[in-house]
Amino acid sequence: MSDSPSGSPELTRRPEWTALADHRTDALPQPDLRELFAADPGRAERYVVRVGDLRIDYSKHLVTDETLALLQELAAATDVFGLRDAMFRGERINVTEDRAVLHTALRAPRDAVIEVDGENVVPGVHAVLDKMAGFADRVRSGEWTGHTGRRIRNVVNIGIGGSDLGPAMAYEALRPYTARDLTFRFVSNVDGADLHEAVRDLDPAETLFIVASKTFTTIETITNATSARSWLLKGLGGDEKAVARHFVALSTNAEKVADFGIDVDNMFEFWDWVGGRYSYDSAIGLSLMIAIGPDRFREMLDGFRIVDEHFRNAPAEDNAPLLMGLLGVWYGNFLDAQSHAVLPYSHYLSKFTAYLQQLDMESNGKSVDREGRPVQWQTGPVVWGTPGTNGQHAYYQLIHQGTKLIPADLIGFARPVAELSDELKAQHDLLMANLFAQGQALAFGKTAEEVRAEGVPEEQVPHRTFQGNHPTTTILATEPTPSVLGQLIALYEHKVFVQGAVWNIDSFDQWGVELGKVLAKRVEPALTEGADVPGLDPSTAALVAAYRNLREV
Ligand code: F6P
Repeated sequence: MSDSPSGSPELTRRPEWTALADHRTDALPQPDLRELFAADPGRAERYVVRVGDLRIDYSKHLVTDETLALLQELAAATDVFGLRDAMFRGERINVTEDRAVLHTALRAPRDAVIEVDGENVVPGVHAVLDKMAGFADRVRSGEWTGHTGRRIRNVVNIGIGGSDLGPAMAYEALRPYTARDLTFRFVSNVDGADLHEAVRDLDPAETLFIVASKTFTTIETITNATSARSWLLKGLGGDEKAVARHFVALSTNAEKVADFGIDVDNMFEFWDWVGGRYSYDSAIGLSLMIAIGPDRFREMLDGFRIVDEHFRNAPAEDNAPLLMGLLGVWYGNFLDAQSHAVLPYSHYLSKFTAYLQQLDMESNGKSVDREGRPVQWQTGPVVWGTPGTNGQHAYYQLIHQGTKLIPADLIGFARPVAELSDELKAQHDLLMANLFAQGQALAFGKTAEEVRAEGVPEEQVPHRTFQGNHPTTTILATEPTPSVLGQLIALYEHKVFVQGAVWNIDSFDQWGVELGKVLAKRVEPALTEGADVPGLDPSTAALVAAYRNLREV
């Protein structure tokens, strides 16, 4: 293999890669879904994989048995399963940070043994889960009181990125399971309006702040936590002792937590082998655990584990994360798709795609390989989407009739949540009818002949024709329970892993967010004090000057 400093040619020179490129050329203009289904009546049943409570239908993809076989050969050649096993063993596969990648240990059973540097990490995981459970129970029962002796009624999680998106997404997803007598808010943005709106109607005597930060150095979080402390102290008469009853921390950095003034007894620990975007099933999930209770939280971990075991043990041809990852490789690397839509047909999954954006785009938004050489192939897609029916009345037009290839995941549930009234439950069929209709319309479209047969005037026929052939995966689950949510998240975690392995990139670092952070710190004094900031480019310097002028008016 070449070690060219100008690039990382291994992947595109592999025979398995060129076989896929040739296959793509042979199949041009593209496999046609109408033809594929007509030629293979069993396709709808064969192209389905089941894992836990998830039924994953990939029959509406622009692939044939041959495409799938070639993609599997690429996975074998790039040793996806070898890297998977190294991850589960606790090897330091996050090469640029020299760290193990062990979010799977967060949901390992008590008796599992997973070693990092010769130490079994599982007892520590369960010790923290037990400590979280004890605390969550005390808050939920009212035993944990605030500084004035009043019970806690409001929980405000302050964090950003992985320290916000996971708990916020899961809280929404599992709302029917949450303690409805408690209020939960999630503050992430350094825009003071976020904290203002979160606390303006809360009583400080009844409010618990959870400061969530892996590093405990993230400027947005520390700034918001500092302001929250001022708000609390102001509301409670200024007694510093109040902080211990109203602030807890979730972090890997005890020293910084203590520096901030939070008692480390009130800190819930996790470890450097948990990436931020893979962390909401760690201590970072404390707000969620308070919301749904420790038992439900453990059910969620069990759900994660179902898919971990599946990813580890299912044969390649039935391995759901592997298949989903490889389909993304097919579209991104061979059919030039730039983005991937995730469209949940569930109000409860309203933050699901935003969560996946960090999971996928922070993991696989890379342009050098694991050895630091520029890659010569596309890596992670732009991930986007919102709940389905809302999207239908906004941007689905472009998916149906635009010029871009946008593979999409349609996610739906067989049952509405139990607490809806009968009348609202009855709406569920309409919701799901939309999902199924979209899958069909995207795949099979409507031909010009069909449009004409409806008597549409000839000049309108092109406008009303749907070319179809837009690929989707349909993930049908039972209902949005804690376990099902865990299954879905683990499915996407491992899908992202598969793609990173094929592309030979480090999916577990995030150096790309550093430059902006450093520059923001440098620019701030120019705004607050009018300081001269060396190194500002002319455009940014002019913007800073304009901002300062406008602010004075
Ligand atoms: O955006 C960069 C990032 O480092 C994410 O990876 C992380 O989830 C987020 O910032 C928050 O980091 P922390 O939990 O250390 O505050």
